[in-house]
Amino acid sequence: MSAPKRSRGAGYHKARVRNMFLTVLPDRITAGFLKARHVAQPFHVAEHTIRSAAWPRAFDGLRIAHVSDIHYGHLLGIERLEQTVDAVRAVRADLIAITGDLVDLSADESPALFAQLALLRARLGVFVVLGNHDHLDHPRTIVRGARDAGLIPLMDDSMRVGAHGSHEGLLVAGIDWSPTIPGCAHRLRRCGSAVPDLLLAHNPKAFVAAAERGVPLTLSGHTHGGQLARRANRRHNLVFTSRLTAGHYEKDESNLYVTNGVGAWFPLRVNCPPEIAVIEMRCR
Ligand SMILES: [Fe+2]
Repeated sequence: MSAPKRSRGAGYHKARVRNMFLTVLPDRITAGFLKARHVAQPFHVAEHTIRSAAWPRAFDGLRIAHVSDIHYGHLLGIERLEQTVDAVRAVRADLIAITGDLVDLSADESPALFAQLALLRARLGVFVVLGNHDHLDHPRTIVRGARDAGLIPLMDDSMRVGAHGSHEGLLVAGIDWSPTIPGCAHRLRRCGSAVPDLLLAHNPKAFVAAAERGVPLTLSGHTHGGQLARRANRRHNLVFTSRLTAGHYEKDESNLYVTNGVGAWFPLRVNCPPEIAVIEMRCR
């Protein structure tokens, strides 16, 4: 008996057409040149120290590896994924945050993806939130795969980790994909009334609500850093739908880091290398 057919997400078929024209076709037209050049780019390991008086003193100096937008699929296959995992493992972080778009289009290949991501280990855990691309096909397959791989998916939820002595631990929250500022705010409220120490959100627009709540650190992806940026200023890039496009932003004691991510859905990056961010959090 064949397995029952699952229903795809509403945007899947439109995304498949876009994938054909913007991901597969440019690669075919250039006989694989664009893809080969794209995946040959070395990862930029971006080390940042971020300070906030709101960061819990018990976790002063915590190192977080932030990886996003893997887009496992046509452009980023198993070999590049293995390189990504090796690069993240080499960082030896206390906590690993994967902020969405784990797959590019289809969830069918997620077993291979999670076989690799299962190799990631961190003292306080490996946390995952979903991005818009993870919703194109079958998000529940992604969430289940993450959980089975020993990762911690957070879907408008939070978790305390690393309790020791009199300290109750670091409160890590993660919200599911939302395209809007009010949608992100709504999802953050669903995480509970306590203010998280760390928020994972695919969409950087979540920072608006996070800053209002006084969240010390929000980690996001989604923009890919614009993929094409001016050499002199990485914030002059191809993202026109948001002002939170790349790098570190701060408002009072709240901080946001938007990573370029490691993958893409178009095989071109200019002055915008694939990135693994390493954030060291310090109390002021
Ligand atoms: Fe993405």
